[in-house]
Order: sequence, then structure tokens, then C-alpha cells
Amino acid sequence: MSISRIIKRRRSTRSFLNKPVGINKIRLILDSGRWAPSGLNNQPWRFVVIKNKNIKEKISQFTKYSRVIKQADCLILVFLDKKNSYNLLKDTQAIGACIENMLLCALDLGISSCWLGEILNRKAKVNKSLKISLRYDLMAAVVLGYSPKKTKSNRLALDKLILKELL
Ligand SMILES: Cc1cc2nc3c(=O)[nH]c(=O)nc-3n(C[C@H](O)[C@H](O)[C@H](O)COP(=O)(O)O)c2cc1C
Repeated sequence: MSISRIIKRRRSTRSFLNKPVGINKIRLILDSGRWAPSGLNNQPWRFVVIKNKNIKEKISQFTKYSRVIKQADCLILVFLDKKNSYNLLKDTQAIGACIENMLLCALDLGISSCWLGEILNRKAKVNKSLKISLRYDLMAAVVLGYSPKKTKSNRLALDKLILKELL
């Protein structure tokens, strides 16, 4: 599939089958994440991968999207390593690119995903429950799994997004 088709086919998926995602596929997804661009190539992202049901359940209590986390086979928490950060805005942008790479790679492997930001409201609790130092600042949760459903989405028309076209 061409990259532009993959980009358009990716959807946020919030219900999953009870089917495991292989660790090799998860590694490929993380690998795509780490190849994202970053300012000064500082690669500020760090990952925690959770497939363990009990731990996933524990983390799920910190978001109103708890059902999504419990249902998904795999939860990836993406952190910013503050000791490795040079500019918060640029590092945050780089982590966004890293996450999008992961979502697109997942789709290419036939795996559905959802980027969950709401959990950031209780990010300190996530660190505490996993005994992760506050040096690592939670940026997002990403759930992965197989889904029977195809969800729909839409976008604003391109014409409404282009402020100027100075050709
Ligand atoms: C920064 C960010 C935070 C998001 N947080 C959540 C979230 O907490 N819960 C959720 O269900 N979806 C979340 N999403 C997914 C968006 O709702 C979704 O991308 C948007 O509605 C467009 O749908 P699509 O991804 O299927 O095209 C988030 C997406 C981004 C980029």
C-alpha cells in the first residue's frame, strides 16, 4: 500500500478483538517510532510496553478511556526524557512524529491503534504506579490490537486549510 493510502486508511480504533499482537510486530512499531525526525536528532522519546493484563488494568484506571485500554492487547506509553530534552515545544513535536510513525506502521502490519491523550490528566499517577522517575514525562498512551470494525472519520476540506497559495 502506498504511504498516502496508509495515511488515509488509519483510523482511531476503540474496540478490539481478544487476539494478541506478536512481540515482533510491537518491536517493528517501536522501531518505526524511533526513526522519526527530532530537533538536533536528540530522540527524546522513551517507551513502556505493557501487555500484562493486571498492569494494563491498573493503568486503565487513570483515564476515562479505561475500557479501550483494557480491551486492547498492548499499551505503549510514550514518555519524553526530560534529561534529554533541549526545547519542550520541539521535543513535543518530535514525539508527535514518533507516535504517528508508530500508528502508520501498525496499520501497515494490519494492527489497529488509538492515540490516547486524556490519560495525561493523571500522568503523575501513571509514573508512580509504574515506579518510573518523573524525569520521564508522559506524552501519550497508544493502544494496539486487532479490530473487526472499520470506523469512519472526516477532515476539513483542503481549501479551508490553505491560508495562502503564492504560486
Ligand atoms: C493528541 C491526541 C490526543 C488524543 N486523545 C484521545 C483520547 O484521549 N481518547 C480517544 O478516544 N481518542 C483520542 N485521540 C484520537 C482522536 O480523537 C482522533 O485522532 C480524531 O478524532 C480523528 O479520528 P481518526 O484518528 O480516526 O482519523 C487523540 C488524538 C491525538 C492526536
